Amino acid sequence: MDYTLITDPADAARALDDIAPVYEAVFAEPPYLEGPRDLALFLEAYQLEHKTPGFRLVQARAADGRLVGFAYGLPLASTTAWWDSFLDATPAQEFTREDGRRTFVVKEIAVLADQRGHGVGSTLHADLLNGITAERATLTVRPEAPAATWYERLGYEPVGHTRPWEGAPVYRTLAKPLRV
Ligand SMILES: CC(C)(COP(=O)(O)OP(=O)(O)OC[C@H]1O[C@@H](n2cnc3c(N)ncnc32)[C@H](O)[C@@H]1OP(=O)(O)O)[C@@H](O)C(=O)NCCC(=O)NCCS
Repeated sequence: MDYTLITDPADAARALDDIAPVYEAVFAEPPYLEGPRDLALFLEAYQLEHKTPGFRLVQARAADGRLVGFAYGLPLASTTAWWDSFLDATPAQEFTREDGRRTFVVKEIAVLADQRGHGVGSTLHADLLNGITAERATLTVRPEAPAATWYERLGYEPVGHTRPWEGAPVYRTLAKPLRV
């Protein structure tokens, strides 16, 4: 497997043609069952996110050049509402303070179903965070997804649960310290 880190916004923009079909295939699976509307929202979000300073994308390619997985993320902005509106938690003000550098959001990780269980996801995750200066990483996950327990094995701890919009499923927000 070949892993490539992309930080340049022009390269990240070009990568979207490759990662969109992987996103579409992976998140069509349960529990996500995403369709064209969700894909459109993903594309819209990526168009903004890939231009954000600190954005990072890691791609995993098979020997034949086929993209089999990707992970990307970016720093939380100082104005973020990321830690707001938990259904079951009120983190301390010091915990939720952001300055644009403190916290790196792991926005998406996806590996094609027939390529899972061989360490591709773990390597994508490690390469995404390798060398960044953020104090911690955070992400959200559907609690019923197999990835929820996988993230806890990677060292993430639950912060609380949210329902990001009316009618949305419940998401668990997790955080992991990156420095000791
Ligand atoms: C979550 C996801 C990215 C993990 O990808 P993956 O490539 O299967 O991840 P890994 O292979 O690194 O780890 C999966 C398991 O395989 C095991 N494994 C098997 N062979 C391995 C190897 N050679 N090296 C490392 N781990 C291996 C790991 O121990 C791990 O087991 P664990 O779950 O008990 O820790 C993938 O399942 C996926 O795309 N899921 C759907 C999308 C999703 O839910 N994304 C996250 C939420 S946004």
